Amino acid sequence: MCGIIGYIGNREAAPLMIEGLKKLEYRGYDSAGFCTVSNNQTLIQKDVGKIQEVEKKINLNNLNGNIGISHCRWSTHGGVTKENAHPHTDCKNMISIVHNGIIENFSELKEKLMEKGHTFKSSTDTEVVAHLIEDNYNGSIEEATRIALRQIEGSYALGIVCAKEPQKLIAARNESPLILGIGKEENFIASDVPAILKHTNRVIYLENKEIAILTKNSFEVKNIDGISLNKKINNIDWDSELAEKSGYDHFMLKEIHEQPRAITETLNGRIKDGKVSIKEELNFSDEELENINRIIIIACGTSWHSALAGEFMLEELAKIPVEVEYASEFRYRHPIINNNTLIIAISQSGETADTLAAIREAKRNDAKVLSIVNAKGSSIDRESDSVLYTYAGPEIGVASTKAFTTQLVVLYLFTLFMANLKRSLDYGKISELLGKLRKLPLQMEALLSEENRIKKIAEIYKDKTNSLFLGRGVNFPIALEGALKLKEVSYLHAEGYPAAEMKHGPIALIDKNMPVVFIATKDDYTYKKVLGNIYEVKARNGIVIAIATEGDEEVSKLADYAIYIPKTLYILSSILTAVPLQLLAYYVALDRGLDPDKPRNLSKSVVVE
Ligand code: F6R
Repeated sequence: MCGIIGYIGNREAAPLMIEGLKKLEYRGYDSAGFCTVSNNQTLIQKDVGKIQEVEKKINLNNLNGNIGISHCRWSTHGGVTKENAHPHTDCKNMISIVHNGIIENFSELKEKLMEKGHTFKSSTDTEVVAHLIEDNYNGSIEEATRIALRQIEGSYALGIVCAKEPQKLIAARNESPLILGIGKEENFIASDVPAILKHTNRVIYLENKEIAILTKNSFEVKNIDGISLNKKINNIDWDSELAEKSGYDHFMLKEIHEQPRAITETLNGRIKDGKVSIKEELNFSDEELENINRIIIIACGTSWHSALAGEFMLEELAKIPVEVEYASEFRYRHPIINNNTLIIAISQSGETADTLAAIREAKRNDAKVLSIVNAKGSSIDRESDSVLYTYAGPEIGVASTKAFTTQLVVLYLFTLFMANLKRSLDYGKISELLGKLRKLPLQMEALLSEENRIKKIAEIYKDKTNSLFLGRGVNFPIALEGALKLKEVSYLHAEGYPAAEMKHGPIALIDKNMPVVFIATKDDYTYKKVLGNIYEVKARNGIVIAIATEGDEEVSKLADYAIYIPKTLYILSSILTAVPLQLLAYYVALDRGLDPDKPRNLSKSVVVE
């Protein structure tokens, strides 16, 4: 996955692109590059490293011009080298392109182009696009791009400039996100909104197989056959401050702290008169909703963990049978689905390739698809029958935090909505449960004030190499999520298990070097059993960190370290217990000298299989 920003207008393009690219660094940070056009020449500077490092290596004086394209890379085809960094050019350096996606038929195209005498400088799939456009160039970059794209198989978001037509910036998209930012006497292209938000909040989402032609004063979007399309300009209501770090050292920490506000915004307008009010957001008739007799939730990674918590909520309260599937597995099975099956797809980015493919598979089988999405205008947003948004705002940190807890909130709202529809709970009960939900943002604020304590606990991980995370019921997915967060940002090996499974294997790992995080909140179900598991770990000299309910003396006597969460409903406790685990992972990463915003080998949205 990679990030793109391009500019055309009256200002110098390069400084704007450097600034914009920094907001896209979550999409890729192994190399970066820039191209401007000046005096009918393409000027290119690129190198390996994070954008800040590349910025130091390049010379801005050699990058003048009021039109340009730029790219931050997360390599797929071809190693991390200067040659493989984007932009890529044709033989004569006349055409320059940046690309996010994968050209699947690049080797056959490359072979044919080489036979025709084209010489290649990199081992990327992207470079073929530049040569293919060159091969079809007959005085119009727009036309040559269109002809080239007809021959390409795969995914792409492309930014293209041509030295012979310096008044035009071309953009094209298929399966990889790309937006146009419409300004005053200037226009932008970008992979994501934060890159351009400082300059304009007027955005057009390109759809698959669309090509945009931008000049500084105009924009036109056409389909692959050259037919002009009428595109809607969307006004983005995100504040550009939201896309910045706001004084926090890292986006991850900022986003952890944003959770109370993100939850408040996700609840905003969705609870009325003691009931969940989301009917207008759902594109399904009452009859369709009442007929739903089975739900399959599909997602990847952290979103899959929220799906597991959603299964617990929906079965417990709405009494609807639920299955949870990895989107990557679901898409290659032949699931038995009918039109009374509701597919819920969960995705922060709305661009995860496997989740998108699973949605398409479900739709082919007549299922209704409801998505829970954070990124408005994303592919999953547009392809689903209905969407319930999480209003977490842009999530920049690679490790998902506020998107996760807001997904849990939306799942809870949908559960209570269905519980009302299916009459599994009465009005009084639903309004009582919603009352507890409303208290969460304040309770989370209180919990976040325990940050220093968690920071101290994180120190025990300094010389450790492994950790176990154990929880039960609705907190089992939180144990999985706690382990994933620690793995992602601190590179420690961590595993999440249902606490009762410990005896069936993981107990063999326990000794004085094994920190075991127990989610041991008070409930009427399994609390006592979890206490039993804590005794078992202590008996084997394991280090116990317990996430417990405030006022629980018993746990505080047993555990080496305890973190307390405010009292809430058992089913809502998962939204609170996730928070200390996010902070724990964050501080363990810092103690190990790692940058939690840029974990190695990971990228924010996985748009390739
Ligand atoms: C983990 C993380 C990933 C994502 C996964 C799905 O911190 O962020 O595991 O949850 O790649 O991404 P979305 O939700 O964008 O579909």
